[in-house]
Amino acid sequence: MSCVSDWDARFRAGDHAGSEPDPFLLRAKEWLSLLPSGATALDLACGAGRHAVWLAGQGLQVTAVDASTEALARTRRLAGLGGLSVSCRQLDLESESVELGGEAYDLVCGFYFLHRPLFPLLDRALRPGGLVIYKTYTVERLRSPGGPRNPRHLLEPNELLRLWSGFRVLVYEQIREGRAAAGIVARKTALEPACHSSGSVPERGVASLASTASTTRLAMAMACAASAALKNSAGMTSSSALG
Ligand SMILES: C[S@@+](CC[C@H](N)C(=O)[O-])C[C@H]1O[C@@H](n2cnc3c(N)ncnc32)[C@H](O)[C@@H]1O
Repeated sequence: MSCVSDWDARFRAGDHAGSEPDPFLLRAKEWLSLLPSGATALDLACGAGRHAVWLAGQGLQVTAVDASTEALARTRRLAGLGGLSVSCRQLDLESESVELGGEAYDLVCGFYFLHRPLFPLLDRALRPGGLVIYKTYTVERLRSPGGPRNPRHLLEPNELLRLWSGFRVLVYEQIREGRAAAGIVARKTALEPACHSSGSVPERGVASLASTASTTRLAMAMACAASAALKNSAGMTSSSALG
């Protein structure tokens, strides 16, 4: 990531000012019903707060973290405009001493921020049964102008599947062209610790592969299986519908 003062300047210049959540988060909404009432959520590198505030609007108790003072000021403002409350915490997520707590959250959400050493901490921060919703750019982003250029900040093909291979994958999507990105919704199951080392991509959960011109979706019969499972029960049934 570029340095924090760069981000402060970018926010002051009106960059990343949108309040609309990423469509991937909106599509993941149905999975939120797996979470207990009063669930807690962590929004990593929250920027101007579009995801943190949307999650607060869904009834979650949200902690938003970012290194940028300007980002957090915007998050507070956006929450205030909606009459919502978001707890904001200034944190350098790339610091070696960063601490996110143990089993403190039911949901960890991260968009357009990648610092690989954080992944074991995210796993630790999630309660069993909790969800991760994560999306960021892939190396295929390099084929189009704009966006991050440093591979350190770009996902490798299928990397999210490897990073969350100990979780039950509920949704995995890749956009292969333009603003190429990958997104995952995965659930921490009580019996399967996550494996954050490189390894094979899990077969589990990958039920179908459908392609469009610009989008490859490993959405795993997502809409049908998800809503059927969610209607049938809370808890593990929904993930096993895909597993
Ligand atoms: C591309 S923006 C994404 C913002 C938000 N997640 C979204 O999708 O709207 C990246 C964010 O990462 C934050 N960031 C960059 N480096 C960081 C670090 N070391 N620790 C915490 N936040 C950082 C920036 O301040 C910025 O808000």
